[in-house]
Amino acid sequence: MDDIILSASILSADFAHLADEIAQAEAAGVDWLHIDVMDGHFVPNITMGPFIVETCRRISSLPLDVHLMIEKPERYVEAFIRAGANYVSVHVEGNPNIHRTLQTIRSLGAKAGIVLNPGTPACAISALLPVVDFILVMTVNPGYSGQSFLAESVPKISEIKAMLERHPSSALIQVDGGINAATLPIAYQAGARIFVAATAIFNHPQGIQAGVKSLRTAVK
Ligand code: DX5
Ligand code: ZN
Repeated sequence: MDDIILSASILSADFAHLADEIAQAEAAGVDWLHIDVMDGHFVPNITMGPFIVETCRRISSLPLDVHLMIEKPERYVEAFIRAGANYVSVHVEGNPNIHRTLQTIRSLGAKAGIVLNPGTPACAISALLPVVDFILVMTVNPGYSGQSFLAESVPKISEIKAMLERHPSSALIQVDGGINAATLPIAYQAGARIFVAATAIFNHPQGIQAGVKSLRTAVK
């Protein structure tokens, strides 16, 4: 399908060969690189900071899609955008001044995304539609790659799609977690157009190119 955006999550890349793995994903035709930032507080895992975003910026010309799973993201959005982030997404959970943070992301020249965990209802973001460029519906609980797609997230994708039509808003819906050739079409049918995948790309048994191809051709 040519109306899907594939965002390759480097969380499952081999960091001993990061430049080579990113080059392979780029050559295979991914659209964006997804960088999962975790602080050990908002989620149990600890991963990458602005330094890795700056590294990706030097080795790739793809748009960088930075997913912040951190407490008080307002403290760091500027550092990530200066490091080269083009898309920055922040969670609605635990962020009382999230509207301001989204405005700040836009004012610094990046596209702003709002993220909902599986336990967060669609209505939690209705007041934020005027200040978002995309909406990320988590299809796993955030923290790790390699988890299974939560089918109970699918009605929420449809609900947000309807909300965007009513608003109206041209924001795209992104999904993240357990996306593979079997689950991508389910999320697509519900209204998602941006698909994040780590395992299905970087751990595909036939290699990165085969992984990207299987996702790109998943929607018939
Ligand atoms: C999970 C991260 C995801 C993760 C996806 O907290 O936000 O981006 O890398 O990994 P897979 O595609 O393996 O579910
Ligand atoms: Zn992510």
